[in-house]
Amino acid sequence: MAAVATGPDNKDASVGLASEFRPIHISGYDRLPHDFYPTPDWVTEALLKHVTLSSPVWEPCCGDGAMARVLERAGLKVVATDLVDRGFGRGGVDFFECTAFPADCRTMVTNPPYGDGGEIGRSTNASLAMQKFVNHALNLTVRANGKLALLVRFQWMAGKKASTLISSGPLSRVVVLTKRIQWFDNGESTNVAQHHHAWLFWDCRHGRLLPPSLVFSD
Ligand SMILES: C[S@@+](CC[C@H](N)C(=O)[O-])C[C@H]1O[C@@H](n2cnc3c(N)ncnc32)[C@H](O)[C@@H]1O
Repeated sequence: MAAVATGPDNKDASVGLASEFRPIHISGYDRLPHDFYPTPDWVTEALLKHVTLSSPVWEPCCGDGAMARVLERAGLKVVATDLVDRGFGRGGVDFFECTAFPADCRTMVTNPPYGDGGEIGRSTNASLAMQKFVNHALNLTVRANGKLALLVRFQWMAGKKASTLISSGPLSRVVVLTKRIQWFDNGESTNVAQHHHAWLFWDCRHGRLLPPSLVFSD
């Protein structure tokens, strides 16, 4: 049997250490079913400051409408759908089953599910799940000759496969958020946010050979 390090009070010292020095990849929270994490308003507002979206906008993973409401406040019409009915938009619409943008929409904006959370919130390979999502979103956008804005983890976009995929579309602008997103508010026990995020914005009107521009925003 492996020895367990104990502290002065004979308790498992590794437990104390783990809570003091939390590894960067562990949030301290179980993943929520279907990766439901409503986006704070300032994140969508940062996107609106730096890109021009065309109305109506499709929000294909709308959740409880956190992002869609900010877009609407900015004067955009929003077609909101989600796999799950959360009392906003149309539920029961699986993004991966969609073969085209909704009628009249040429712009898609969302904060995609980061991992295949599934119905019980089981975390699988988040990086692969994101690649699958971005690949499908880009295909639909190019087919619609439209625009696409996706909120992604900064760390994710630097991966070899992710960067190749991102560059395969008409990437026009990257909006790097200098403030970290706090997804939960648990009062005093709220963990410090670990990840930086960025908005990736593709626009089919962006010249194929032109490099994307990068801006920092908070
Ligand atoms: C990270 S939350 C974002 C919610 C919302 N976009 C926001 O920013 O506040 C991801 C959402 O994606 C939805 N979702 C997960 N898988 C989906 C799928 N295959 N098709 C459509 N929506 C999906 C979840 O139900 C959840 O509401």
